Amino acid sequence: MKIAVVGATGMVGGVMLQVLEERMGRRVGTLLPVASARSIGKTVRFMGREVPVVGLEEAVHARPDLALFSAGGGTSLEWAPRFAEAGSIVIDNSSAWRMDPDKLLIVPEVNGHLLAGKDFSKGGIIANPNCSTIQMAMALAPLHARYTVQRVVVSTYQSVTGTGMKAVQQLHDERGGKEVAGERAYPFRIEGNVLARCDVFLDNGYTKEEMKLVWETGKILDPAIRVTATAVRVPVTGGHSEAVNVQFARDFHLHEVQELLAAAPGIVVEDDPANDVYPMPLHAQGKDAVFVGRLRRDESLPNTLNMWVVADNLRKGAATNAVQIAEALFPPPVA
Ligand code: A2P
Repeated sequence: MKIAVVGATGMVGGVMLQVLEERMGRRVGTLLPVASARSIGKTVRFMGREVPVVGLEEAVHARPDLALFSAGGGTSLEWAPRFAEAGSIVIDNSSAWRMDPDKLLIVPEVNGHLLAGKDFSKGGIIANPNCSTIQMAMALAPLHARYTVQRVVVSTYQSVTGTGMKAVQQLHDERGGKEVAGERAYPFRIEGNVLARCDVFLDNGYTKEEMKLVWETGKILDPAIRVTATAVRVPVTGGHSEAVNVQFARDFHLHEVQELLAAAPGIVVEDDPANDVYPMPLHAQGKDAVFVGRLRRDESLPNTLNMWVVADNLRKGAATNAVQIAEALFPPPVA
């Protein structure tokens, strides 16, 4: 297969290369790492080789089978359709196409079956959901199937890796007591601080990240689910954490909730308060699972559950989810 990774020199792009290597390996006959003009001449490491970075124009002319995009919404809006017209299947990690009614928004374990209903033989665009939405949808899906989720109140504690390389640099520089090298990712200090803002503010007073949780959860799971969110950036690099309060139409038994989650693909339950076991980003980092714990009844409302959901936002929240979509479209040949 010929695969382009657009944004290959970036935070998510680098993890996409790693996950492609781990999961598809030698099936990738040609890799086209794509970045901006300033990166032409650089190389990225893939399968033990240094592969030169190319520009978008060169990559689209190569007509790759698959193009994984993670180079920002502007690049996706302009270039994803050009790759699709050239016959490539684009899996886009930006927010550019997620709410387009003609585009699928896929978490393979939750709604991957929708892929079979569309013809991608001449190319197309598939959207990869927002990192915070993916891990929440993963935890809600098995519970929605059993008890019908009516309303969700979520507060996120998001890793700086979700903002890209500049943000990680800012955190490291501030942590080391240095002047921040280059452009700052956040207007305020992030080390030793908590910023109640992820992405831009919208006219309704919410941030775009908060509204992504509302819009995308509806599209992936069920538009009848009402969601309200507060998205917060914390000085952490390992993954995103979420406090999720879920109101169901039907009552539940906590042990059954635990069983449903434990049986769901891609979920690991870590819930043993007596032994201080609960999910945390330090443990989730580098892993593909979504970790769920602190399962407890919300004693202030009927049929309502509190849970704590953690995942590596660069892996399941971005690169792994995208590569899983690719695997579903291009299943490995049967040995
Ligand atoms: P470059 O490294 O050349 O700037 P991050 O989210 O970690 O900041 O990474 C963003 C990724 O998107 C990088 O690989 C970056 O390349 C790439 N990128 C940004 N703008 C463009 C563009 N206009 N065309 C192609 N790639 C781009």
